[in-house]
Amino acid sequence: MRIPIDRESATPLYRQIEQFLRQQILSGRLTPEMRLPATRELAHSLGVNRITINSAYAELESQGLIFSSLGAGSFVSRSSASFPRIVRNEIPPEGFPAWQGSLAGSGRWSEAVTRHRDLAGPQPDSGFISFAGGAGDERLFPVEEFRKTLQVVLCRDGHQALDYGERRGYRPLRVTIAGILTGEGIPAHPDQVLVTSGSQQAVALVAHLLLSPGDTVAVEVPTYSGALDLFRSLDLNIVGVPLDAEGMRLEVLEQVLADVGPRLVYTIPNFHNPTGICLGAERRRKLVDLGARFDVPILEDDYVGDLRYEGSDLPALKTLDVNGGVIYVRTFSKMLMPGLRIGYILAQGPVLGYLEECKRVSDLSSSSLIQRALESYITVGRYQAHLRRACSAYRRRRDRLMEELSAQIPHGVRWRAPAGGLFLWLEPPPGTSTTRVAEMAAEQSVGLVPSTCFYADGQDRPFLRLNFADQPEDRIAEGAARLSRVLRACLG
Ligand SMILES: Cc1ncc(COP(=O)(O)O)c(C=O)c1O
Repeated sequence: MRIPIDRESATPLYRQIEQFLRQQILSGRLTPEMRLPATRELAHSLGVNRITINSAYAELESQGLIFSSLGAGSFVSRSSASFPRIVRNEIPPEGFPAWQGSLAGSGRWSEAVTRHRDLAGPQPDSGFISFAGGAGDERLFPVEEFRKTLQVVLCRDGHQALDYGERRGYRPLRVTIAGILTGEGIPAHPDQVLVTSGSQQAVALVAHLLLSPGDTVAVEVPTYSGALDLFRSLDLNIVGVPLDAEGMRLEVLEQVLADVGPRLVYTIPNFHNPTGICLGAERRRKLVDLGARFDVPILEDDYVGDLRYEGSDLPALKTLDVNGGVIYVRTFSKMLMPGLRIGYILAQGPVLGYLEECKRVSDLSSSSLIQRALESYITVGRYQAHLRRACSAYRRRRDRLMEELSAQIPHGVRWRAPAGGLFLWLEPPPGTSTTRVAEMAAEQSVGLVPSTCFYADGQDRPFLRLNFADQPEDRIAEGAARLSRVLRACLG
């Protein structure tokens, strides 16, 4: 146990030790019946006389906070739980140092997302039905297969699996990733792949590398709240480019490129979060051309490109890129498991080395054990099988949600069928407060995300994001019924 003691202090050492332990017991960190270190051990580790520890323990015993049992040692007393608690978080805000106070209201850290998490509600097995999640259904995660894979990998690779590993990422995994991408028509070499801790880190690394505070980043409006939060936290100037049914409006982007000069264009061309829209084929070519013409990097976030339920694949921007102008980012979070925290960047040219350096500075490397397990899991073809399973389940769920909404939702609420991905973007009539809808829905045990999370200015617009993928169909039906009632009440 590490007890901070000050040998220069006028307070005797035994008293400092007694006060520290007392604080730990009363704050609940040392719980009833927990064994305290043996006096000899503690005296040795603190470099004090054993009598000092005995005196501290005797003092605590006299206060009823600990008891000793002959031959077994000293323990936190059972009755200590009934003592008035010292709860750290009860320190009033003005009691914290000034630098902590200055964090609030700096504008760099969003409160919107915290609010939306509150509205997302509790976890699956309760009566709460959440359409607010950002990933697929955890009930479909291949837990047992992955457990076996982890075991196999630990036996096979031993201590190497628990070491830092290669900075760019576990090479066999990069080989597999390059194989998956090439198979999808995105030519990739393993050396052009950098494994990251989720695609959130991938986007963060690119932003850290290419942008400085005050620089402008162009994004779709609306866009992924995690990207907005990230860009805000870096003090970037966020310029929005509106979407239509074919994705980002490139005539507006062109104007922004000419007038404002963003240093990066961040885009989600497939099953855009939150709207579910795909960027049209012709626009993809034009976007890559614009990036080249204005010498601006394009960050392509392909977070669910593989979750397609109908129609044919559109070319990745990366495929249309001839000279390394597009940085491509993807993740295993959505179609496999977000808890793996494995995403990756595909890039060409000097930028890749810098990104690797950024990654090293950020977290040294992603977990070697998880990368090895993922590689082992994917190479036996289970990835494709899992993808097929997930796609067929999510397609049915999307259809079920749309059926239920068609049957029950009040007139004037619209949506467009997403051809893939996770989200349905619901459009109530103009003037509807979606924050209010989300609050009322939460009261009826339904979670959804109001529009405010997806706009840089945090203004409420008449849109709601529903995740149709992470609930079984019967819960979707019940959730849609509750949501319809809420909307009916809201719209009068
Ligand atoms: C568009 C988009 N990009 C990136 C991410 C980050 O996901 P992860 O870090 O789990 O790969 C998300 C998560 O919701 C997302 O929606």
